Amino acid sequence: MAVSGLIDFHTHILPEMDDGSRSVEESLEMLSLSAKQGVAKVALTPHFYADRDNPEHFLEKRQRRYEKLCASMGEGLPQIFPGAEIAYFEGLSHMKELEAFRIQGTKALLVEMPFRPWTERLVADISDLARHSGFTVVLAHIERYDNCTTERVLKSLVYEGVLMQSNANSFLRFMSKSKAFRRLDDGMVHLLGSDCHNTGSRPPNLAEAFTAIQNKQGVQAVSSLVSRGEKLFSL
Ligand SMILES: [Fe+2]
Repeated sequence: MAVSGLIDFHTHILPEMDDGSRSVEESLEMLSLSAKQGVAKVALTPHFYADRDNPEHFLEKRQRRYEKLCASMGEGLPQIFPGAEIAYFEGLSHMKELEAFRIQGTKALLVEMPFRPWTERLVADISDLARHSGFTVVLAHIERYDNCTTERVLKSLVYEGVLMQSNANSFLRFMSKSKAFRRLDDGMVHLLGSDCHNTGSRPPNLAEAFTAIQNKQGVQAVSSLVSRGEKLFSL
């Protein structure tokens, strides 16, 4: 992979938080795999479900796990930035802890949308959050909502300033890649993430996707994705 300085915007590398990494050792292996792929920055985005957890408890636990991981990290690994993959819930825009839920180093809130048809109210809520909160709303794994919304709605959200994150896999799998490339061509993919959960079935695989993008759409497509990510870290 010719490009370095990649940013993985969506990972479950933080240990013992969710269905991702089960130990510090596994997290270190995942980070090491990421480093070998040219990844320089990794957002740690454990699931947050407001109906199962409360923000205070989540944030305390995240801090403990983050400190534990930092204490074990050696040289040559990517920089890590705590954040969350926030499952959308009504009231998200009013949550007082929003600031603590952003991906640190950025103003980005990674939001996992519901896997059921999106109502007008929900879309309006996300749009309001994007326009008025001062945060950059990023929708997680945009390819997973094909049965929930339309391209027109997604485009309207992008128009309001929402960014779309795609999983690396969507550019690699036979069933999804043509749509992923079409969306990238249409300016509907802004950030990539591996959404890695472990070193086995769902490993860090960002470089594979960037290589596929470079092969199909050229170096410029890769550079613009990389600079879009860097821009978020420079705000
Ligand atoms: Fe995820």
